[in-house]
Amino acid sequence: VSPAQAAAGDGRPLVIAHRGASAYAPENTLAAVDKAAELGIRWVENDVQRTRDGELVVLHDDNLRRTTDVEEVFPDRAPWKVRDFTAAEISRLDAGSWFGPAYAGARVPTLEQFVHRVERHHQKLLLEIKNPELYPGIERQTLKVLGNEGWLDRSHVRGRLIVQSFSADSVRTVHELKPAVKTGLLGTPPVSGLPVYAGFADQINPSYGSLSTAYVASVQAFTGPHGRPLEVFTWTVDDAATAQRVAGYGVDGIITNKPDVVREAVDG
Ligand code: G3P
Ligand code: CA
Repeated sequence: VSPAQAAAGDGRPLVIAHRGASAYAPENTLAAVDKAAELGIRWVENDVQRTRDGELVVLHDDNLRRTTDVEEVFPDRAPWKVRDFTAAEISRLDAGSWFGPAYAGARVPTLEQFVHRVERHHQKLLLEIKNPELYPGIERQTLKVLGNEGWLDRSHVRGRLIVQSFSADSVRTVHELKPAVKTGLLGTPPVSGLPVYAGFADQINPSYGSLSTAYVASVQAFTGPHGRPLEVFTWTVDDAATAQRVAGYGVDGIITNKPDVVREAVDG
């Protein structure tokens, strides 16, 4: 049983709703947070990007096409990158119809709106800083929004917030700016790199396809910046058999679009 599992008190991995419960509601919308809450899921993952006028918004792609009606609303604005639109323009887009008519009118939330909703449900947040190379200073800005929303106080920092990124530089920056905040490095770095990463990351969060019991144990053998063993949250696992397999590897958390399926698989 790893430290996070022991903290959960039951030896089972935590279940994290990927982009909200995104198999059942449009990803990274408030509806997807609500759906996770309805399913009794405590942890929600999201992705953060920045608009042209400097607002942080919650969206996975650096482009608005896949998950909004931007091409209809702004036909002349190809290639429809998030960073080329203002927050006011993005707030006009429909981020739900692509998923299903029941979600028509869902919006791209600002980070502030997203955090509010997570707070309202008393949930916990695994926040991913997306494409930080496109958005200089996004780490400081993300921490500022979190601080304004009360998410850098002791209780949030101690058990309700993790900031992760695929960029080691970005994770290091978050750690240096706010050492109390728990951080995660996405990907599957070689074990030889872990002594460095363990200086600023509390977690190593790999795709499940690259995992093994030996790799998980190697990661957990390192001590992170807060004096506790490194943890492993893996993604994106949506079926019961895979969830049981990775739970058997000893992972601390499973990030999933179907948190109900994974919860039942690891509870059973
Ligand atoms: O939280 C892990 C996972 O979200 C990383 O991949 O592409 O879904 O952001 P992606
Ligand atoms: Ca993500």
